[in-house]
Amino acid sequence: MKKFYTAALAIVAGAVMNATAQRAPGTIVPSQMPKKISKDLFGIFFEDLSYAADGGLYAELVQNRSFEYGPGDNNAFTPFTAWDFLTMRKYGYGNITVETNAPLSENNPHYVVLDIQGTGQQGMGIMNSGFDGIPVKSGEKYDVSLFARVLSKTPIPIKVLLQGKKGDIYGAVEFNTELGNWKKYNRTITATQTNDSARLVVLAMTKGRLALDEISLFPQNTFKGRANGMRADLAQAIADLKPKFMRFPGGCLTHGDGLENIYRWKNTIGPVEQRVQMRNIWRYHQSMGLGFYEYFQFCEDIGAKPLPVLAAAVSCQNTGGTRETGQEALPMEEMKAYIQDVCDLIEFANGPVTSTWGAKRAAAGHPKPFDLQYVGIGNEDKITPQFKERYEMITKAVRAKYPNITLVGTVGPRPSGEDFELGWQEAIGLKIPVVDEHYYEKPDFFLTNNQRYDTYDRSHPEVYIGEYASWGNTLFNALSEASYMTGLERNGDVVRMASYAPLIARQGHISWNPNLIYFTGTQVVPTVNYYVQKLFSSNQGDTYYPGVVKFKDNPASKDSILASSCVRDSGSGDIILKIVNVGAAGATAKADLSRFSITKSPASLELISGKPGEKDTFADPNAVVPKNSTIQVGKELVYQAPPFSLSVIRIHTKK
Ligand code: AHR
Repeated sequence: MKKFYTAALAIVAGAVMNATAQRAPGTIVPSQMPKKISKDLFGIFFEDLSYAADGGLYAELVQNRSFEYGPGDNNAFTPFTAWDFLTMRKYGYGNITVETNAPLSENNPHYVVLDIQGTGQQGMGIMNSGFDGIPVKSGEKYDVSLFARVLSKTPIPIKVLLQGKKGDIYGAVEFNTELGNWKKYNRTITATQTNDSARLVVLAMTKGRLALDEISLFPQNTFKGRANGMRADLAQAIADLKPKFMRFPGGCLTHGDGLENIYRWKNTIGPVEQRVQMRNIWRYHQSMGLGFYEYFQFCEDIGAKPLPVLAAAVSCQNTGGTRETGQEALPMEEMKAYIQDVCDLIEFANGPVTSTWGAKRAAAGHPKPFDLQYVGIGNEDKITPQFKERYEMITKAVRAKYPNITLVGTVGPRPSGEDFELGWQEAIGLKIPVVDEHYYEKPDFFLTNNQRYDTYDRSHPEVYIGEYASWGNTLFNALSEASYMTGLERNGDVVRMASYAPLIARQGHISWNPNLIYFTGTQVVPTVNYYVQKLFSSNQGDTYYPGVVKFKDNPASKDSILASSCVRDSGSGDIILKIVNVGAAGATAKADLSRFSITKSPASLELISGKPGEKDTFADPNAVVPKNSTIQVGKELVYQAPPFSLSVIRIHTKK
């Protein structure tokens, strides 16, 4: 299907080679002519998987803050998950129930009622243990907030404490409640100690009946200080990748486990206590505290173009634990409203403040448009007649209304096969500008497929490799990806974007391995794969120069054990060489830099190398990390690439 280009190129290239045989030395042969490549090549894919959002990037420290967890999310969950009752010994006594009558919001129907019959010495209440403990730092400020409704005749004072496991107190605040309907109470606690597994204790101090909901403990120190924002250290690790785009909120999460589980962006905006929470396909709960507004804001904060992906009005083909036979399609009578939702997302991101959805963005705090350029439709869907019909309806409607939006289509879960072929056929037929390929494979796949995109037809849609990874976090895995990524740069005229997947995973809650970054409540451990991604994404160029690096006595082998690329970043004027050696022997690389006007030597060198099986772990997070040094450069650079290494050399040239 996509091979016409190869044959044509081979004939032209043959002609060029003959014609150039007599060229003057030093002249650039056409096959070595620079070409423009995508400015958006390397980015990230964020999925709420392995506690990536709640308990992860979203900085909320209370787990199950609105008592909405339940067995529908996971058999082990109840509305009291992560909560304990404080009714014994020094505490008082009474009943604690979960109720739904006259809730804070219909979207948030459960709340807890404390029926305090005796207060004991310390009051009666509940305690939240966060996500495997609440990490607090001495001197840092935490915003406590809760909604309360007094159900008896006199107000009930509330005490909120930050407490260690043994009961030592790291901070406390008190609220005087008022009679009447639900009311929000906020205060700030400054922690007096550092502890990685504190608890949040909420105590009613007099007898009576008190309803509580949406109990939150939020650090003031979030990424860029955003309210309802992101966990600072984790967000920084992501920002350090300098991603050019971010796909969100997920893959399987997006199309969901059945129609009712399709991710609906409109459910995720507005006041957090009114958002529609949902079962996460990865068998936990989505509070939606990290919703579409926060995703857009985060993209802006890290300088990444947003790439929201919405379902193609069908659910995952594995719905209900089926094996590719469970796809459910939205009834046709719901398609008009569904398509409207897709268009409304674009208005939410880009519309003027006077538009319905632009006004909601402004009300959330961002009057300026978010400059949305890409929208993904579908994720790895089975290409059935139902899918095709809906995909066509959605993509045609969006293109008619928003011709400037670049749509990203889907071509199944694998790098080849039926859905891949059918998905491509659809995309070509519908003239979808970009399609999203996915593959999780052994390192060998990445080493033997370096040329995959050399033969892609440039008149067909461009490619977004939305999810890829080799199965593992060793240096060898990471280098197989690095070798492959040189091929993505070489084909940056047809590969528009690429993102490793998945991005982050919380230790103890991992649904998918490997990941790019692992974390606990207090530690963030980037993998070697992360450092490879970082070296590529923070050293992107917009022009590719073929044939600059050659391996002495060792022409670039078919299995890409040795691979290289040369790009230029027109912004800085820098030339960037990437040299990958996935072999056990050192290799000599020669770079012909005669065509560039080098303005400064030495150049900077970032090097990742080590033993092939090494990896970064919680116990040894710095086992393999890039090392910085400098290297002298001239018209020719002879470089010894160590065994199992990635070297990135950045050279200043005249702009
Ligand atoms: O990245 C993990 C999962 O892999 C994604 O949700 C899905 O799109 C793919 O199958």
